[in-house]
Amino acid sequence: MGILEWATSPLGQRVPIHIAWVLIWVALIGGLLFLIVHAIYVRYFAKEKEFAADSPSAESLEFPARIPRHSLTARLFHWIMAAAMFALLFTAFLPRVGIQFNWVTYHWIAGTVLTISILFHIVHASFYLDFWSIWPDRSDLEDAWKRFQRFMGKSTALPRKFAKYPLENKLYHGVVILTGLAVIVTGVFMMFRVRTMIFPRNPYLFTDMTWGMVYVLHGLAGVGFITLTIVHVYFAIRPEKLPITASMIIGSMSREFYLKEHDPKRWIVNGVSDRRSMADGD
Ligand code: HEM
Repeated sequence: MGILEWATSPLGQRVPIHIAWVLIWVALIGGLLFLIVHAIYVRYFAKEKEFAADSPSAESLEFPARIPRHSLTARLFHWIMAAAMFALLFTAFLPRVGIQFNWVTYHWIAGTVLTISILFHIVHASFYLDFWSIWPDRSDLEDAWKRFQRFMGKSTALPRKFAKYPLENKLYHGVVILTGLAVIVTGVFMMFRVRTMIFPRNPYLFTDMTWGMVYVLHGLAGVGFITLTIVHVYFAIRPEKLPITASMIIGSMSREFYLKEHDPKRWIVNGVSDRRSMADGD
């Protein structure tokens, strides 16, 4: 049993037609195993998170009670994209596990919503959000190395608190970019294979071999999203992450949570005053 399904083209060539659907179960079980192992590790083995003390200049800052984290536009994007993603996963995979319905139309419509929302997000994040906040920087790598050494039982300096996003979130976002790009680019081409009001149908755009590879890449990235979505939802509902999840609904988090995990020098928040300059009468 391989990971691809093959067929013979009209020219007698052996071509891949799509992934073997057993990969749906591999992705599902892989995601569930990850969360079981992680939950056991956190419950029984992980130590309390420890961070280096804030710099004296950060300690003098005075913060509002609620720290703004996601603008209304960013939250709307997140939930539209999430709805499109769930619609894509259910329409793609339920028919493969025995729940039959006319899935293709719902699927390409959800795919179009996802594609447009991602194009919007690229423009929004590039020009209106802090573009670099989601990319790993030097401090992330230095701190990851310190955390790894401490995990291995070596004594080393404590890592700093996080910027807006911890390294794990940044790496997850990077994997989602690659997987999302694969599923969107292949999905747009696959719209030429089905009847939509967007493109004229043209199944002769590619050779059978190329179409096969497009379907395989779409399927591999698609099952990848099963695991990625399970992991994402798992972290969103973990008790210690609920303030972060709530901020994706209400837009802000408490000052206490912000100061516990984030370095005010690395994630600079608007509306913060400096007690020292206020005392100086500035
Ligand atoms: C996480 C997102 C997605 C998942 C999990 C997913 C999954 C799948 C799967 C498993 C198939 C069946 C392929 C096969 O038979 O080999 C499929 C077909 C299809 N997908 Fe997606 N897809 C996603 C996103 C997209 C996007 C963004 C688009 C469009 C922009 C799209 C357009 C299509 C089309 C048009 C088909 C039908 C092809 C046909 O029946 O010939 N998909 N998708």
